[in-house]
Amino acid sequence: MKKIRVIYLFTLILSSVNIWAQYQKDALLYKDPNQSVERRVEDLLSRMTLEEKVMQLNQYTLGRNDNANNMADPINDIPAEIGSLIYFSSNPDLRNQVQKKAVETSRLGIPILFGYDVIHGYRTVYPISLAQACSWNPTLVQQACAVAAQEARMSGVDWTFSPMVDVARDGRWGRVSEGYGEDPYTNAVFGAASIKGYQGNDISGSKNVAACLKHYVGYGASEAGRDYVYTEISRQTLWDTYMLPYEEGVKAGAATLMSCFNDISGTPGTANHYILTEILKKRWGHDGFVVSDWGAIEQLRSQGVAKDRKEAAMKAFNAGVEMDMMNQCYNNHLATLVKEGKVSEELLNDAVKRVLRVKFRLGLFDNPYTPSSTEKERFLLPESLKIAEKLAEESIVLLKNEDNVLPLKNGSKIAVVGPMAKSQWHLLGSWRAHGNAEDAVTIYAGLENEFKNRARLLYASGCDFDGEDKSGFEEAKATARDADVIIACLGEKAQWSGENASRSTIALPSIQEELVAALKETGKPIILLLSSGRPLELNRLEKLSDAMLQVWQPGIAGGNPIAGIIAGRINPSGKLSITFPYSTGQIPIYYNQRKSGRTHQGKYQDIPSTPLYGFAHGLSYTNYEYGDIKISSEKIRKKDKLTAEIAVTNTGGMDGMETVHWFIYDPVSTTSRPVKELKLFEKQLIREGETKVFRFEIDPLRDLGFIDGNGDRFVEAGEYYVMVNDKKVKLEVED
Ligand code: BGC
Repeated sequence: MKKIRVIYLFTLILSSVNIWAQYQKDALLYKDPNQSVERRVEDLLSRMTLEEKVMQLNQYTLGRNDNANNMADPINDIPAEIGSLIYFSSNPDLRNQVQKKAVETSRLGIPILFGYDVIHGYRTVYPISLAQACSWNPTLVQQACAVAAQEARMSGVDWTFSPMVDVARDGRWGRVSEGYGEDPYTNAVFGAASIKGYQGNDISGSKNVAACLKHYVGYGASEAGRDYVYTEISRQTLWDTYMLPYEEGVKAGAATLMSCFNDISGTPGTANHYILTEILKKRWGHDGFVVSDWGAIEQLRSQGVAKDRKEAAMKAFNAGVEMDMMNQCYNNHLATLVKEGKVSEELLNDAVKRVLRVKFRLGLFDNPYTPSSTEKERFLLPESLKIAEKLAEESIVLLKNEDNVLPLKNGSKIAVVGPMAKSQWHLLGSWRAHGNAEDAVTIYAGLENEFKNRARLLYASGCDFDGEDKSGFEEAKATARDADVIIACLGEKAQWSGENASRSTIALPSIQEELVAALKETGKPIILLLSSGRPLELNRLEKLSDAMLQVWQPGIAGGNPIAGIIAGRINPSGKLSITFPYSTGQIPIYYNQRKSGRTHQGKYQDIPSTPLYGFAHGLSYTNYEYGDIKISSEKIRKKDKLTAEIAVTNTGGMDGMETVHWFIYDPVSTTSRPVKELKLFEKQLIREGETKVFRFEIDPLRDLGFIDGNGDRFVEAGEYYVMVNDKKVKLEVED
């Protein structure tokens, strides 16, 4: 009897242990929001089959895709186990429906990650990135990105493929519009600001999205400004020019990165172990994931480094690309590659963990569905419109203003001409997400709002954006004759920049230049409004005009900020984030070129060798007087810190926002250095008659030092210059 009792007790204990073990197994720790992200990731991974793991690493599309550059057969039967979808719809319904399938019918209920290109706004479209950088106001850019994030997340998007921080120095490249210009530091600052705007303090927030730094790295060096082509980038240039914005973006917390299309000196970005694994993951410690660019894995075949999709999958995956965007390479080949030992299980697990980590951080496991809301609740909120308008205002650059023709006096009769005057569509630029042209205020409408009862507007279009039809010239001239001043609204069509939109010249089509030449015959002052997605060749137009305002593609606020500047309600404060060459033949031309051996020679015989408008050029309606640069010490040791200050006084007749750019120059170094390098910028409001002090805290290693071809930073003893405009001061660094 006793024996039976012991056996009974023993069985009871054993089964309790089993039940407990089973309970532990079924407890689905990964579903417990109180567990840490890492524990949840590990737990979930331990339950996944090889096939389930592989599916997490694929991205398909959902909804109607209108992007002509990226067409592919839609995958109608979306597997419930898919890792991610590019979400083209602008409301959450479809997303929620497909998410339900993933959460409720897949074995482990892993939610899908929905991504989309939210580049410069979602519905509230603000200026293109190149223009944003001309505002020199990262706080404003951060706010604009927060608006985009709110609109996107409330519409069913968790992840944006933005910011693009590709330093770009060739205006022929259409994608120059998508980045922050020619300078590495500027790209770094605005990239980080936009990441903060998108992600907020916590990407699980219901109005935040995960950011994606792209296109890692060097895409901006595309030869001759053509898209998708080769880039020749030495290790030195890679580090000097292209890496900083990515390094800073990773520090700012970018959840993900997108690898680039370009073949970097023989190793395409998609298969580049050095940049993706050695640097990004190992040195910088990034623990999110890398998504390929659209089709870029299978394009390793066209680039000649993979014989078929299977080899392409192997190369991209082993290099460090975790997610396959529309290649059909990982879904078809990764499992086999693992079984054949060509891809290690350890690497596969690491990749899956990276993707899951981002999903957990976004809160998708706990809140997989997007709450429903009306368009009115999520789009074009008054506060969002204000930010879009302010950013457009600050990104417009007054290039020229002879005899202070601007601002216009009240009572003027204004002839508004040119193909941009009444366009809504082209104001939005490329990558407009769910922007609606009808939301955009045309230049003409903006002028009407601004000058109501204060000036008379006359209108004639004059000509189209391109072509040879001059039949409208006479009407335009007659209209101009009737007026006191001409505002000619010129520019590029939206589709002339952006992806796969290179141009062989950065001049406007000759019909537009001819229109201005015809208007010049009237003898009336000519103000040019220039809307474009790239820097322009303006040397001929400059001669014909009295004032020129570079308005870029300003987004939906469009005509309002432009008209505000023309009327003097707004004092222009934008400065160029990219050089405007004298002509296309000067490209590549950028402010931070390296020193030449013969500065007195090596000039062009037929054109000037200097640009028409240099980096940071931009006029104001007021005058600023710069004092001398004062430094806290003329001699410092490498480890010391130093402060430089400059006082700027507004001596003109209007309040203004002034940006001070701090450059450094190193006359002699182990490696040759650029003629100057931007290290800091700051924008401040300076009221009429007021003086403001701008300060630069110099850290010798960060600000005076240089980087070598391995990405290591050094500072050498010797002489340096700190420069602001035409002011400079010398300092000496000792060991
Ligand atoms: C572009 C990326 C974009 C992706 C998804 C690619 O063709 O290069 O910038 O994010 O498509 O639309």
